[in-house]
Amino acid sequence: MIRQLDKVFVLDTKNTTYCFQVLETGHLEHLYYGKKIRIEEASDVRAIEEKHAFPPGNGNVYDSQFPKFALEDIRLEMSAYGKGDIREPFIEVIHRDGSYTSDFLYEKAEMYDDKKSLDTLPSAYEEAGKVSELIISLKDKQYDLTLELHYSVFEDRDVIVRSSKFINTSKGAVKLTRLMSMQLDFATSGYVFTTFNGNWAREMYRHDTLVSVGKHVNSSYAGTSSNRANPFVMLSRPETTEDQGICYGFNLIYSGNHYEAAEVNAYGKTRIVTGINPQSFCFVLAEGESFESPEAVMTVSNEGFNGMSRNMHDFVRNCIVRGAWKKKARPVLLNSWEACYFNINEARLLKLAKAGKEAGVELFVMDDGWFGTRNDDKQALGDWYVNKKKLPGGVKSICDKVNALGLDFGIWVEPEMINVNSDLYRAHPEWVMEIPGKPHSEGRNQRILDFANPAVVDYMIEQMVNVFSSANISYVKWDMNRIFSDYYSKHLKALHQGEVAHRYMIGLYRLMRTVTERFPHILFEGCASGGNRFDLGILCYFPQIWASDDTDAIYRAKGQTGYSYGYPMSTLTAHVSNCPNHQTLRETPLATRFNVAAFGLCGYECNLAEMKKEEVEEIKAQIALYKEWRDVLQYGTFYRGRSDNIYEWTCVSQDKSKAVGLVLQKLVEPNTTYEQFTPKGLDENKKYRFYNIEKKRNVKTFGDLVNAIAPIHIKNDSILHNGIDKVVKMPGEVEDYTAYGDVLMSGVKLKSAFCGTGYDENTRFFKDFESRLYFMEEIL
Ligand code: GLA
Repeated sequence: MIRQLDKVFVLDTKNTTYCFQVLETGHLEHLYYGKKIRIEEASDVRAIEEKHAFPPGNGNVYDSQFPKFALEDIRLEMSAYGKGDIREPFIEVIHRDGSYTSDFLYEKAEMYDDKKSLDTLPSAYEEAGKVSELIISLKDKQYDLTLELHYSVFEDRDVIVRSSKFINTSKGAVKLTRLMSMQLDFATSGYVFTTFNGNWAREMYRHDTLVSVGKHVNSSYAGTSSNRANPFVMLSRPETTEDQGICYGFNLIYSGNHYEAAEVNAYGKTRIVTGINPQSFCFVLAEGESFESPEAVMTVSNEGFNGMSRNMHDFVRNCIVRGAWKKKARPVLLNSWEACYFNINEARLLKLAKAGKEAGVELFVMDDGWFGTRNDDKQALGDWYVNKKKLPGGVKSICDKVNALGLDFGIWVEPEMINVNSDLYRAHPEWVMEIPGKPHSEGRNQRILDFANPAVVDYMIEQMVNVFSSANISYVKWDMNRIFSDYYSKHLKALHQGEVAHRYMIGLYRLMRTVTERFPHILFEGCASGGNRFDLGILCYFPQIWASDDTDAIYRAKGQTGYSYGYPMSTLTAHVSNCPNHQTLRETPLATRFNVAAFGLCGYECNLAEMKKEEVEEIKAQIALYKEWRDVLQYGTFYRGRSDNIYEWTCVSQDKSKAVGLVLQKLVEPNTTYEQFTPKGLDENKKYRFYNIEKKRNVKTFGDLVNAIAPIHIKNDSILHNGIDKVVKMPGEVEDYTAYGDVLMSGVKLKSAFCGTGYDENTRFFKDFESRLYFMEEIL
């Protein structure tokens, strides 16, 4: 609910309050953001407003008319550069007289019972709960410019979405060099700024930085939201834990260059800003033109990181993801990439699809290699017509044959890219992002199409519509495999080159919007060399994203934990692949590969047609189990436990009648036999059966320890040893208890782990990289 109490604005959600007021100078002073507090009349904020009696020494008085105010130390909703505030500004404009100084002051407020969408960028929406919007208009009277601050209050989600709009109401052009989406000032310092960084194959590693002085920046100039620095960030206190303490979460509904800075000023106040990266950004706006920032999402919880994550997950699932697949069970797929790479043809693919069908998969995906002369990654991007040598009957023939097996069919595309060695480049070199006459830096041998040029976007809409209507396509993997360099649009004049990166995003979003609206039944999956563009902008069009090219389960435990802070598991795809793993060469148990992938949208990416029978049988059982529990795993509430040498996750169904838990161990700690699993989120008053599924062990996994029990000596790896291994299986431990939720959540003590002093059916065999799933079902 949004209320205006005289000059005070109060924005309440179910559990939080956000509050600011108009100062006598016309600036907006931030007062509070946190757990819900009671503000009934304007005078209720007198206690929490700062008392501005005189400006601090060496500070600039804002204006002789208001001698008490120095902007440098005031908590502001929005800060412009040049009138005394020397912190991170919200907006920067270069005026016609060459000055950089702006001063935006309160003009009016409007309130609405719904929320408007942005014109050029994707927006959050609400269809099941309450949302209202406050628009504050500010005016720079010296230069006749207008700035709007938008606040959308998602009451039932404990989320506020902010954005801003700059309108050139003056006579003549100005240059906008920075426009943030969100600014938030706190009265104190010592917050922990958490960012999620990495690179290809190691996305979303959590980094905590204590910001007690100076500035810490998380940003991307990769052209994408990037795997280097995801736009989702958190602010918390040093004492905040997974389940206790205050935690703020921030994200941006944007897929391009972004910027998040946390700064502590000389008075110990903390400011955080989020928005488009101002680096090399310059929009020239003629008289009457406007510019809108992406939407920034913010939430706060007193229930630690998990509490904040629950808010974000609920918001992303309900207010970002849309379309026919929003709440639908996602299919178990088999992707051809790691099984075939570029070496595909109809017979090979069909053999793989058939093996997939037998194992229980529901969707077969033909990855890269099916179009033009795409025999390697040096050619053919841009040529979106089928390679008849590989697929003589076209996409339709393979699709029909895969359908005839009883599987849906999916296809891979990379519409934003072009190889110099392609028909498209030969026909339209002017459509490529390159600086005329200058050498170009390539990534994965490819260049980027100039989506700042609407004609290029129109062409690609046509191409994609052709591909997607060429057969009964149910799924599309939309890839994007390089970062930007040599930013330049041949379509724009020199003065406008600072607009390229953002205009590219506007073009991309138009392409995505058009094709997803045209093919509403298709399940689209975003991908950018894995997670190089995992963000809320993409999720407004594609309900799921390939989280990482790295399918190694031990990396994935860390990466998926990283993602889980800001993104629900229903947006994150995870595949079981072969071992040694193709990215790390690590060997991990097949069970662990599945157990980790099962917490995301589980699929397979391995040569099922050539795997051992025993492995295929195991995979069959995995897929059956996943289908049985996928409702809980895909749409349940996710909780993190420990994330160190041991990872603990719990996923609980919405009605709390079922839950699945994971315990994963990276490396064995010798002689630490007692381990516990602590489920979270259960109903304290419900009684559950807690159990695992027994897994028998091969004798050979114990090596020559077999002699500790064998009546005759067995030589390690001998014919006898191998023979016994085939017929004798060792029992796995069985855990099976019934207890109330509160009992289980105090920590279920698991069977003792093997520690070199004995082994029987009550011993938990828990080597390096072992894991277990635990199932909880309400007993009625
Ligand atoms: C990227 C993707 C992979 C695969 C290849 C195909 O690397 O992340 O999953 O699709 O491209 O070239």
